[in-house]
Amino acid sequence: MRKPTEDVRIFAERRQRIAQELQGSALIVAAHPEHVRNHDVHYPYRQDSNMYYLTGFEEPESILILRPGLKPESVMFVRRRDPERETWDGFRYGPEGVEKEFKIDKAYPIDEFMTHAPGLLKEVDQVYYRMFKNSEADAKVQECLEKVKSMQGRTGYGLLPVHDADTLLGEYRLVKSEIELTNLREACEISAQAHLAAMRFTRPGVTERQVQGVLAHNFFMKGAAREGYNYIVASGNAATTLHYNFNDQVCKDGDLLLIDAGAEYNYYTGDITRTYPVNGKFTDEQARVYQGVLDVQKAIIDYVKPGIVFKDLHDMGTSLLTDLMLELGLLSGRKDDLITALQQKRYYPHGIGHWLGMDVHDAGLYYRKGVPREVGANMCFTIEPGLYIPADDTSAPQKYRGIGIRIEDNIRVTSHGAENMTSSVPKEIADIEKVVGK
Ligand code: GLY
Ligand code: MN
Ligand code: MN
Repeated sequence: MRKPTEDVRIFAERRQRIAQELQGSALIVAAHPEHVRNHDVHYPYRQDSNMYYLTGFEEPESILILRPGLKPESVMFVRRRDPERETWDGFRYGPEGVEKEFKIDKAYPIDEFMTHAPGLLKEVDQVYYRMFKNSEADAKVQECLEKVKSMQGRTGYGLLPVHDADTLLGEYRLVKSEIELTNLREACEISAQAHLAAMRFTRPGVTERQVQGVLAHNFFMKGAAREGYNYIVASGNAATTLHYNFNDQVCKDGDLLLIDAGAEYNYYTGDITRTYPVNGKFTDEQARVYQGVLDVQKAIIDYVKPGIVFKDLHDMGTSLLTDLMLELGLLSGRKDDLITALQQKRYYPHGIGHWLGMDVHDAGLYYRKGVPREVGANMCFTIEPGLYIPADDTSAPQKYRGIGIRIEDNIRVTSHGAENMTSSVPKEIADIEKVVGK
């Protein structure tokens, strides 16, 4: 008999906390669907982050309905046990197992959703549900809400209002608890060790795929369940493609290698980028651009503390990187005019970072009703400035063409500043040169 991966009291406590805010409402959360990769082969299944956050349950074809203050308060619809399917695909908890192992008040087979769900929702005034991300679940919820409406007849109760569950849950997920930080730090440390191993492995002639293999080997050997997102292992000019995923070239002497990769541990992911020379020694041009980006990254991390506004980090990144573009001769003109015309986006087309947690681009608002939000203790995010100068950009100085650099660390806001959770992978030029290929 399988057991839940983590202590399920964690999830029960989360549901209770949310229940205090949601009296009179119901929260509906659905599992991700499974996807076919090719004939008879599925993509590896990974539970929806909100579903895992609230239940710890990892099976597809499941729906949670949370009804604060009512009995039963937590209800799940899950796959029935099925000896034949379990012979092929493995263990299922079934409704009984879910009640027993996951501290869920009542569980039904998923094929009985329409039998029970309308009655459960008839007792609430409004519903929280994330629409438009899962068409199968949307269809079920729509049918259910129509049924609730028809059950009410012409009593004035009509269709239940639906609010966005993502926004609601994102605000909880944004501020990390101790157990979440333990998982996230572990994900960060596994990711960091894997980057270090990849640095040591790199030398001219190795392939990007082999470097990816070193990352994956280290992720799994150190306890990660999977990667948090697709590996980016981009040598030479490929580093100027932001989400390069081909990873099929040979790493050449004289080129830089950009690696953006993160391990997922207990559903939390690291997100680290390092850029370094394939042969272990920066050229003068590479060092100049690299040091410029590194100085920007360190200045922004130094600025982080509770009370600062996340948008200010973006603005700081734009301002400092535009200075660097002017210094390198990539742009010319007045800085403010260039930024107004978004000229810096030619070489720095992304933002300075994003919330980090269960999803690499984690849940949580950046603005509340249009107002940029302040950061507070135990919010976690990346700081990842970059500069990307395509090889075919004839307006850039020749010596910088084909250089793509990003440096990305994972930051937690402390009570007075910032903790860098990924500091164990080198990023100073001298430290990198001591490690690559060794
Ligand atoms: N790895 C994706 C990102 O850095 O946002
Ligand atoms: Mn990132
Ligand atoms: Mn990244």
